Amino acid sequence: MEKFVIHGGNSLHGEVHISGAKNAAVAIIPAVILSDGVCRIENIPNIMDVNIIATILHEMGAKITRVNKSTLEIDPTHIKNPVATYELVRHMRASCYLLGALLGKFSRAEVALPGGCDFGVRPIDQHLKGFGILGAEHSVAGGMINVKADKLVGGHIYLDVVSVGATVNIMLAAVKAEGKTIIENAAKEPHIVDLANFLNSMGADVRGAGTDVIKINGVKHLNGTTYSIIPDQIEAGTYMVAAAATGGDVIVRNVITKHLESITAKLREMNVQVDEYEDSVRVHRTGTLHRCNVKTMPHPGFPTDMQPQIAVLLSIANGTSIVTEAVWDNRFRYVEELRRMGAEISVDGKIAVIEGVKELIGAPVKATDLRAGAAMIIAALAAKGTTYIEDIQHIERGYEDVVEKFAALGADIKRVYSNDPVVQTA
Ligand code: EPU
Repeated sequence: MEKFVIHGGNSLHGEVHISGAKNAAVAIIPAVILSDGVCRIENIPNIMDVNIIATILHEMGAKITRVNKSTLEIDPTHIKNPVATYELVRHMRASCYLLGALLGKFSRAEVALPGGCDFGVRPIDQHLKGFGILGAEHSVAGGMINVKADKLVGGHIYLDVVSVGATVNIMLAAVKAEGKTIIENAAKEPHIVDLANFLNSMGADVRGAGTDVIKINGVKHLNGTTYSIIPDQIEAGTYMVAAAATGGDVIVRNVITKHLESITAKLREMNVQVDEYEDSVRVHRTGTLHRCNVKTMPHPGFPTDMQPQIAVLLSIANGTSIVTEAVWDNRFRYVEELRRMGAEISVDGKIAVIEGVKELIGAPVKATDLRAGAAMIIAALAAKGTTYIEDIQHIERGYEDVVEKFAALGADIKRVYSNDPVVQTA
């Protein structure tokens, strides 16, 4: 097993280039199944989740060519069997997008129940409700979900909860359905807009993505296309918070500043300077961090995927802050790890009360999930002493070249095998 060893205390300086958005890539790659031609996707992050979803498509018969580190060419025209087995699917939540894409293409799909980050119950009732309104029946047997329709016909779908996954899956199933589909109370995340733009570049007719009503006029065919994925909002936010936590000065390049507004606003409230440029932000801090309250919300609210990272920053701010997690039931599992580094945080249900401490102290900790792992890196960089982070496979699911990028900013971070000696003898 590998782990990260981080000697804290270096403030981060320099520039970091943000990769393509994970959560857009894991929706767009399955969406290629709907195409009748070859799709060239650029700005794909080279991360485990992308490799898994690409491998699943390959196993189903798609021809995948890696043009370069961030570009894949996918020819889905040889996919004949709309089945994705447990072996690969179990590692990844977003594999449920195969349901919508295969259903949209073949009017049937059989996909193992998904895995992915564990932070509470992760139902897919809204996905299935949407499929049902489009005319598909579903059943569960042997750990597999089956969906099938004689013919998909557009319909009017009101989502009971704002769900990224349900919005994506319904869009995928509806683009080739007969007639018009309306999704109300749709998710508005940047990756929803990116997926809509990708589908439209294949010839789909999707309007309103980015608002809470998405209208889709079904089309008969979707053609191959060339498309470049948007930059990763959460990766950018993670480096912004890391710069702030270490009292550094970092230019975060290849971002869409509009997507970062909620993060920028909170950093400014905490006495961190954020300067916005056309496609970059500069984050620098010299003064003490001020306390503030944070509540996670669907976009354009503060992203739940930045909640653990901002909590680290608040744990070294002056005063008491309250963090409310309003999206997931159980996203404070990392708090126990952070407490081991000296953070003073109490959790009651979906609310964490954080008493700022002067400094965190390095300790052995675990990455309990992807974003929790990113938070552990930030805590370790800001802490006094050495931190060992285990279960880094969670982090590598979603952050491209994380060690290299932090090291280039001056962080003392290394990936080692658990059996490697981590303490140097004199
Ligand atoms: N929900 C339902 N029923 C459903 C679907 C969702 O009740 O059918 C509930 C969930 O239990 C949750 C809320 O709705 O309380 C939001 O869930 P959503 O469906 O929006 O989440 P998701 O699609 O499973 C995506 C991201 C997550 C991110 C959430 C919220 C991808 C691949 N994953 O998950 O990203 O936390 O949206 O923004 O896009 C991450 O990148 O670290 C990550 C976990």
